[in-house]
Amino acid sequence: MKIIAGNWKMNGSRDTLQNMALALKDVKTDNKVILCVPYTMLCVNAINFSLGAQDVSTHDKGAYTGEVSASMIAETGAKYVIVGHSERRQYHEETNSIVRQKASNALNAGLIPIICVGETMEEKQAGKTMAVIESGVRESVPNDAGKVIVAYEPRWAIGAGLTPTETEILGAHKLIADTLSSMGLSGTPILYGASVKASNAADIMSIQFVDGVLVGGASLKSDDFIPIITSVK
Ligand code: PGA
Repeated sequence: MKIIAGNWKMNGSRDTLQNMALALKDVKTDNKVILCVPYTMLCVNAINFSLGAQDVSTHDKGAYTGEVSASMIAETGAKYVIVGHSERRQYHEETNSIVRQKASNALNAGLIPIICVGETMEEKQAGKTMAVIESGVRESVPNDAGKVIVAYEPRWAIGAGLTPTETEILGAHKLIADTLSSMGLSGTPILYGASVKASNAADIMSIQFVDGVLVGGASLKSDDFIPIITSVK
C-alpha cells in the first residue's frame, strides 16, 4: 500500500473537486489517496479518498485575522494538513520551528500533518542537501510526534519538470528514515514530491524508503491523477 497525496495549491473549485470525487469513487486501489485542497473546498463528500488542508495557523484561536486553526480544519472532517510546503517556506518565510509548531497544533487537533522538507537549488549547489534535509526533519518534526507523514520535496524540482536521480532520492529517503528512527519515529511514512507524473510515479515508488508521493500539478485532473494512483499496488 502506498500513499498518493495531491496538493491542489490555489487551484480548482468546488465543482472541479466534485468532479474529481466522482472520478475517484470508482477507482479500484488499495493505496491511500489524499487530496489537499484550499480551505473553501473542505466540504466535498469524499468517498474513497481523504481530504486535507495545505496550511494551518501556529495559534489555537484569537485575534489572527485570516488564519485558520487546526481544530477548525478538523471540524470540516479533513484528516490531514500539509505543513512547511516549500511555497510556504519561500513566500511566507516559514522556518523549521514555525513548521514544527504547526505540526504540533495539527496533532493536538487529531490531524495528521504532512511535514515537508527539502533543499533549494542554492543549497544543492553548495553541497548542503543532506544537512538541510537532516536539520529539516530534526527541527520540523515534533519530538513527541504521534502519527505524522514526512514528504521529501527537493525545492528546485517542484513545478520545474525536473526530478532527482534514483540514487539521490534513495539517499535522501534513507537519511530521513534514519533520522526519524533516531527520534523514535521509525515506521513514519516518507513521501517523495516534485514533478511526479504518471510516467515516473511507479519508478519513484519502487525506490526503497519511498512510501508514496505528493503530487502537485498532476493531481488537478483525474486523467493525470488516477493513472498515478493505479500505477502501483
Ligand atoms: P509538482 O508540485 O508536482 O507540480 O512539482 C509538487 C508539490 O509542490 O508538492
